[in-house]
Amino acid sequence: MIYQIYPRSFLDRSGDGIGDLEGVTEQLDYLTWLGVDGIWLSPIFPSPMADFGYDVSDYCDIDPVFGDLEAFDHLMAGAHRRGLKVLLDWVPNHTSSQHPWFRAARRSTQDPHRDFYIWRPSAEDGGPPNNWVRSWSDQPAWTFDEASEEWYLHCFLPEQPDLNWASPAVRSAMADTLRFWLDRGVDGFRMDVIHLIGKDPSLGDDPADLAALSHVPLNDRPETHEYLRELRSVLDSYEGDRMAVGEVYLLDPAQVLEYGGQGDELHLCFNFEPLMTPWRAERWREVLLRNDDDGGHVGRWPTMVLNNHDNPRLRTRVGGSDGRARVAAAILLLARGTPFLYAGEELGLEDGELASTERIDPGGRDGCRRPIPWTPMSPHGWSSATPWLPFPPHAKERAVSVQRDDPSSMLSWYRTLLMLRRSEPALVEGRFELLESPDEVVAFARDDGRTRLEIWCNFSHRQIDCSLEGVVLASSVGDSGGGVLAGDAAIVIKKP
Ligand code: NOJ
Repeated sequence: MIYQIYPRSFLDRSGDGIGDLEGVTEQLDYLTWLGVDGIWLSPIFPSPMADFGYDVSDYCDIDPVFGDLEAFDHLMAGAHRRGLKVLLDWVPNHTSSQHPWFRAARRSTQDPHRDFYIWRPSAEDGGPPNNWVRSWSDQPAWTFDEASEEWYLHCFLPEQPDLNWASPAVRSAMADTLRFWLDRGVDGFRMDVIHLIGKDPSLGDDPADLAALSHVPLNDRPETHEYLRELRSVLDSYEGDRMAVGEVYLLDPAQVLEYGGQGDELHLCFNFEPLMTPWRAERWREVLLRNDDDGGHVGRWPTMVLNNHDNPRLRTRVGGSDGRARVAAAILLLARGTPFLYAGEELGLEDGELASTERIDPGGRDGCRRPIPWTPMSPHGWSSATPWLPFPPHAKERAVSVQRDDPSSMLSWYRTLLMLRRSEPALVEGRFELLESPDEVVAFARDDGRTRLEIWCNFSHRQIDCSLEGVVLASSVGDSGGGVLAGDAAIVIKKP
């Protein structure tokens, strides 16, 4: 299981109200106690923070707000000592507009870095070169540069100009940034919007019926696969296991599967379908079947996502229900594949409302980024500085130290499930089988030929007789007995 840390929100040790690397290092024992196998750190590189680190101005250093290279090495050594892998968040589609490459590109059309970005003259009507729309707005994905009278492409904010991956110099410079961290010992990368790096050389319009959408989920190009094979060969040239998991943000799961190539592109691609699926049993049965389906890509390993730093927290999405959040945890952690868990989900945190004066993210994603409460009393284990966002609702009751001592807490439930994953190899290697079940129940088995486990999940509020038989290994509400599954509950059974 990979645990995603949003460093700003994890734990502040430097005393500025913003989480940092020292805070992460301090909590490594918590992560091993929980049952984490590896961590993914959202971007920690120098950045003007227009998109909180996803606008990188130097790929080979640490932003002072998070610490420095020494603090990073210290973190990584601590993680490796405990057997935890470390993944960095690599942002290849765009740099910050403050990156020296873009500053040089902007200064002169003759600068060699001009070609690092995508520049075009105005369309005939004087407007942007095509109809692409940028994320989080209905605005063009282009900004006009007065000095050169050309537009530059940015699929996100104007402060995040898209790199021109068709340029061999860009590909070589970006591969070097991977080498920098691989040489330092990182185990791999989460690759941000990786499907975006290849662009249609003609920069044709998006289809008119989709033109209201951002261009991001529409960009699916053969060039990207070529670039991914190059990147994979960089990873493969290193000793030990080095991996890449890609954020392939396309709408069709079959398209996403293509980004594993023939085992020569990404090792893992996030499956975002669970994140977007409403809480209805019939939909979740489909999601689980698709999660398990390799679409003919032999050896493909699934990677479920229920949460990240871009979306409201799961508990918020299921109406605040503690029971549903526990059922979701059982699905995430026990279905086939490598689960990615976003920090704070194990505490059952919710977004809550933020006053308009407290909102700071250009994409409206502050709710899921509120700081992790470690202890019940304010400042919840953080420094006394005002945190960059307010603590989430119920911070006192949901703090780590409170839940850790309570066997009935959400945190204890997550840990129980993660310990089961460790003790029952069938939950990792076993095949997946969707079981016949009452309409409002989702049930699946994991079976490795030696052990058969069944996971039964009630999507309704009422108890349902499922004629359950076997030894109960875990139950989110205590064992209701008599083959009955309590409302909003999940149960794990070992078959004789
Ligand atoms: C996806 C990241 O998850 C998101 O946080 C970011 O804003 C965009 N990519 C742009 O880098």
